[in-house]
Amino acid sequence: MRVLSGIQPSGRLHIGNYFGAMRQHIQLQAEHECFYFIADYHALTSNPSPQEVYQYSLDVTMDYIALGLDNQKTVFWRQSDVPEVTELTWILSCITPMGLLQRCTSYKDKVAQGMSPNQGLFAYPVLQAADILIYKSDLVPVGADQKQHIEVTRDIAIRFNNAYGKVFTVPKEYIVESVAVVPGIDGRKMSKSYGNTIEIFEPAEDVRKKIMRIVTDSTPVEKPKDPDKCNVFALLKLFASPAELTEWEKRYRSGGMGYSEAKKRLAELAIEYFGPFRKKRAELEKNPDYVKKMLADGAHRAKAVALKTLAEVRRAVGLDPTNA
Ligand code: ADP
Ligand code: TRP
Repeated sequence: MRVLSGIQPSGRLHIGNYFGAMRQHIQLQAEHECFYFIADYHALTSNPSPQEVYQYSLDVTMDYIALGLDNQKTVFWRQSDVPEVTELTWILSCITPMGLLQRCTSYKDKVAQGMSPNQGLFAYPVLQAADILIYKSDLVPVGADQKQHIEVTRDIAIRFNNAYGKVFTVPKEYIVESVAVVPGIDGRKMSKSYGNTIEIFEPAEDVRKKIMRIVTDSTPVEKPKDPDKCNVFALLKLFASPAELTEWEKRYRSGGMGYSEAKKRLAELAIEYFGPFRKKRAELEKNPDYVKKMLADGAHRAKAVALKTLAEVRRAVGLDPTNA
């Protein structure tokens, strides 16, 4: 089975990215053929500074390798190193109904959060569909917020296959429901664009400080608390063992526990969890040429697949003169 996913280089990766997507990406390598890329064309929809786009792309690559990406087995590249995907985006956009995109909630959410309502942002799901379809992917591991985009991809693939004959594989999403959406320190979805993240590789002291700032309600220490409404508990779920979690749940419900106790333990667990990966991350930072070479190799392998699909698409839609 071919597995594919993309991640935007829009900032340092955070624990929402890890539990929502990266952890599954790394695990799936054991049994499947995996294709993962840095979605730098997608990142342009938020008009980042040019220096940041490339630097963050290298950062994301180093994060992945440090966390266990096997670049011998898995194909890992920068989206813009295979520009063929933008040609497919155009072709797909000509069969994508406006209504399908108008229903997408992520565009509306991003505009409500202050992003510029540019056409790239609106058409974002079509580029994402092209990413998935050009590599004939079967399974797309993503966080819960991406479900709708995979549905749009399926819709576009079916429309294309019905109109021109079967070219595309119709993909499925792979979402770990128990993770749901990881909250940030302000209680909204943790997201690079909201400035509410806890980064995977930031210094331990900063992780601790941010965790101590997580927003909680004002229930007094002695009163019982509802773990299901607490951002600290939502994060504890990701790091604590089932036995420890049950213990915390009891302490929340029985009262007599202050949120700062839970926060201190959460900080310990989070720092310990990512500890073993820090050394590898620091080594990579000293060796940018290795990282760049790895990306070039990944692009080469990805391009071979993309060119093959694009040739089929061009033939199917009537852009191949040898097929007239
Ligand atoms: P961000 O919102 O921080 O820019 P991306 O949009 O680049 O993150 O998302 C990369 C991957 O991480 C996607 O698969 C997305 O679903 C997942 N993801 C991002 N934020 C979260 C979150 N808070 N909880 C769960 N998964 C998330
Ligand atoms: N839209 C995804 C996100 O914000 C990133 C992405 C771009 C992607 N292309 C993709 C994810 C293709 C899966 C497959 O997280």
